[in-house]
Amino acid sequence: MSSEEFTVTPWSVEGDIDYDKLMQKFGTEKISPELEARIEKITGEVHPMLKLGYFFSHRDLDKILTEYEKGNKFYLYTGRGPSGKIHMGHLLPWIFTKYLQEKFDVNLIFQLTDDEKFLYSDGKTMDDVSKFTQENILDIIAIGFDPKKTKILIDTKDIKRIYPISLEIAKRITYSTVKAVFGFENSTNIGMIGFPPIQAAPCFLPSIIEGRPTPVLIPAAIDQDPYWRVTRDIAEKMGYPKPAQIHSKFLPGLGMQGKMSSSIPETAIFTTDDDKTIDKKISSTFTGGQPTVELQRKLGANFSICPVFWYLRYFFDTEKESDERARKCKSGQLLCGECKGNLKDATKPFLTEFKKQREKAKDQVDKFMFD
Ligand code: TYM
Repeated sequence: MSSEEFTVTPWSVEGDIDYDKLMQKFGTEKISPELEARIEKITGEVHPMLKLGYFFSHRDLDKILTEYEKGNKFYLYTGRGPSGKIHMGHLLPWIFTKYLQEKFDVNLIFQLTDDEKFLYSDGKTMDDVSKFTQENILDIIAIGFDPKKTKILIDTKDIKRIYPISLEIAKRITYSTVKAVFGFENSTNIGMIGFPPIQAAPCFLPSIIEGRPTPVLIPAAIDQDPYWRVTRDIAEKMGYPKPAQIHSKFLPGLGMQGKMSSSIPETAIFTTDDDKTIDKKISSTFTGGQPTVELQRKLGANFSICPVFWYLRYFFDTEKESDERARKCKSGQLLCGECKGNLKDATKPFLTEFKKQREKAKDQVDKFMFD
């Protein structure tokens, strides 16, 4: 694959992603300064993930704000495919979702697609996926969502809530549409081909719960967008508002290209990693540095391809600190060892605290479940 090429699907993110091209390809819109200003007016601040362009694209976010201003509150909807442990990449959209829940004071539906991950993986049994489901729930609760305003929906357990809606959706989507949108092939198992309506269904669940058309906003990385494209096509025909989206970029893996993924564990920092493992993974990560200190001092390094830089920027540095880091990196004043050290020093206490919250979450699971 040349550096010009990239793939983004709900199941695979590869290559050097050109986010402008991706927006064009998917037909989404850039989050404009005007839209940011509207968010700021309502919430009193622009979240750093918006300011830094981590959340960069949307569909109908303007309409969500217009309805909100009229007093018509939206629901948030996001999710997780429990195929493994939770890594830091997953935390970013969820931290942002928590901020939206707090600032707009709205309900959240959190879907766990255990069915999808059983169907998609070659080797995993339903039992394996169920174990990850239970583990992932602890991470979700540890984020700090409001238990009174959050419901976690596990597909295989709560199917009765979404099956009737998903049938209505399935009847309106053809095989040729899902084939074109998701790239299904003759060898794809028919469970996967029939799965998209199950992830689409929670988009309409709030309207059913509230008994009136209720807007829904989905914060997620842009890999999930294909689901919303097919859902938006049929929403109004079914009498529901089209679900709106706010899309993030990807946190890169420690090997850089593509996204951080639990299927390549050595390049992902998991929420359950201990200090020694964190040190080891960060020590051996790819960076944007030169092969020798001398060359780095002379030529400078490339922060734009460096995962250490992006982790620090999105999680720990202020905008000012991060811009300064970029400048010093480019000019050769900063060596990779120093940035790696900063990242280790910031990640370890962050995850120590997260692990504490994860432990506490064990007693709270029931509060978050649908009856
Ligand atoms: P999953 O489990 O692949 O990913 C969960 C969420 O994390 C985002 N994500 C990332 N964000 C930043 N950097 C990364 N490296 C990274 N990797 C994953 C994903 O975009 C997603 O928001 N089918 C879905 C589960 C699902 C869902 C939803 C997701 C069901 N309903 C509604 C979002 C919204 C899945 O397998 O996600």
